Amino acid sequence: MAEVRLSNITKKFGALTVIPDMSLTVPDGSFTVLVGPSGCGKSTLLRIISGLEMPSDGEVMIGGEDVTFAEPSDRGISMVFQSYALFPHMTVAQNIDFGLRLAKTPAAEREARVAEAARILALEDYLDRKPGQLSGGQRQRVAIGRSIVRQPKVFLFDEPLSNLDAALRGQMRVELAQLHQSLDATMIYVTHDQVEAMTLADQIVVMNRGRIEQVGAPMELYDRPMTEFVAGFIGSPKMNLLPGEAIGRHDVKTVGIRPEHLRADHESGDWPATAKVVETLGADTVVYADAGALGEITVRLPGNMRLNAGERLFLSPEPGNLHLFDKDGNRMEQTS
Ligand SMILES: Nc1ncnc2c1ncn2[C@@H]1O[C@H](COP(=O)(O)OP(=O)(O)O)[C@@H](O)[C@H]1O
Ligand SMILES: [Mg+2]
Repeated sequence: MAEVRLSNITKKFGALTVIPDMSLTVPDGSFTVLVGPSGCGKSTLLRIISGLEMPSDGEVMIGGEDVTFAEPSDRGISMVFQSYALFPHMTVAQNIDFGLRLAKTPAAEREARVAEAARILALEDYLDRKPGQLSGGQRQRVAIGRSIVRQPKVFLFDEPLSNLDAALRGQMRVELAQLHQSLDATMIYVTHDQVEAMTLADQIVVMNRGRIEQVGAPMELYDRPMTEFVAGFIGSPKMNLLPGEAIGRHDVKTVGIRPEHLRADHESGDWPATAKVVETLGADTVVYADAGALGEITVRLPGNMRLNAGERLFLSPEPGNLHLFDKDGNRMEQTS
């Protein structure tokens, strides 16, 4: 277990500055999730923490120790990638054991650690199989097993589930949450999956172009996004971002309202609209409506509300759930 502290990290690739100046504390034992658009520097940041990449400037501390110039193997970290390169000719047990054998860990200890990892990951029945005889989810568990046996202080995950289908991703997500609870280790996890970020994280770090937009607990980001960027990034379906004139406020550049914070009515309401696409999901119904000059508005309605494409309706925001942003995209406090 260890805190990870980044101070004034800068990363340049030639003339390209990918991370201008980043400071971040990942608390000991936390599950910290990094999210942000493709190319914003998430993988680069993980690689800097792991030592696979050197920062151009700044400091990396792990467990109170300055590891900025330490070898990856001396940092007490372990990294799990999206493409889990297992050795196809080795069994599951041999794959999990591989790093320990390289590190010349004594045989008895290796055996105990592999058995423990297999137990945690429910791989006991598969230890003699080859990777080719496993499902995608089982293979990813083996990759995680290779990390666990090394007993790292910090686990780094770079989109580990993105190659799996939706059902498996859901299952692995639950397993990762349990893994975090049982190991009590610090985990830093990169994903572009909203649900993974919201459900796994103690702390979400929203990145944009190599900078931190906001750090906070999932519901803090959901309830109080400090920038228009975070407002549009966190939440699925996405928050509606409408011009300030939608609420008659000329000092407001953008007003944000989440799809679940809109009411729909056939008779009256604030914004007349026409349902364009109606997605019936069961528990809820998502309606994409055309609101004329205001643009398209997404509404999430209870699943028992019947609505057809082409129907006219009126949309009204629930009071208290508007998010106002100024011309620089910064949150404004509501005055009304
Ligand atoms: N080794 C490299 N050489 C040059 N540019 C790189 C290198 N690694 C990453 N980059 C650039 O750095 C930026 C951030 O990349 P990356 O950290 O992989 O983003 P993310 O993981 O958020 O998608 C991108 O513009 C990418 O092209
Ligand atoms: Mg990446």
